Amino acid sequence: MLRAKDFIRMFAVAVLVMGMSVAPISGVYADDDEDEGDDEGQQVVVSNALWKTECGACHAAYPPRMLPAESWHAVMSGLDKHFGSNAGLDAASAKEITAFLEENASTKGREASGKPLLRITETREFKSEHDEVAARDWKNPKVKSPANCGACHTQAESGDFSEHNVKIPR
Ligand code: HEC
Ligand code: HEC
Repeated sequence: MLRAKDFIRMFAVAVLVMGMSVAPISGVYADDDEDEGDDEGQQVVVSNALWKTECGACHAAYPPRMLPAESWHAVMSGLDKHFGSNAGLDAASAKEITAFLEENASTKGREASGKPLLRITETREFKSEHDEVAARDWKNPKVKSPANCGACHTQAESGDFSEHNVKIPR
């Protein structure tokens, strides 16, 4: 037989569990307090002139919120051997860009592997945002690489990854 006290305790636990499951899921790439509205792709767009020119020269200047600080640190520490290219910078520029990226980085913890990921496209967030993209679309020569955000995100250059501005090339 359950006593009233036990019943109340069970009820309280059930309410707690339910409350947790309906709690809003926080921003995918950003701090909760930077999360304006429920559209993950359209968040406060931070910028830095040096970052935009240097890191936007070969691909979209990937927004700092898309990787945690330790990942940016690792990327910035190996620019002379950067995914098969040399993206080396003078020390002062590297320092300024590293600070900008780290300050505005995602505050989500590391991935399970323990080692910082160097690629946004390997993060759990990226995979879940893109789980509906078909294999043939990734393989489309107009896309070339998942890192080529601008192939589908028409406003990637301005840091806008909103679902409203996605157009998969066909
Ligand atoms: C000389 C050209 C060049 C410059 C300059 C450059 N990158 Fe890259 N970057 C690349 C190439 C090439 C790749 C690999 C792209 C691919 O896999 O399709 C890459 C990939 C990346 C990726 C991984 C993308 C992913 O999720 O797969 C990150 C993060 C990155 N770059 C950050 C930076 C940052 C930060 C800077 C500025 C300090 C920078 N890049 C400047 C050429 C460059
Ligand atoms: C092959 C096309 C394609 C490429 C390349 C691509 N994306 Fe996407 N992306 C999509 C699609 C499709 C969605 C889902 C849109 C929707 O929910 O309707 C999406 C969703 C997103 C979202 C969530 C948007 C929202 O409003 O919820 C983000 C953030 C995002 N992508 C970032 C990136 C970044 C960063 C890159 C490059 C490193 C990238 N994407 C490369 C097709 C692409």
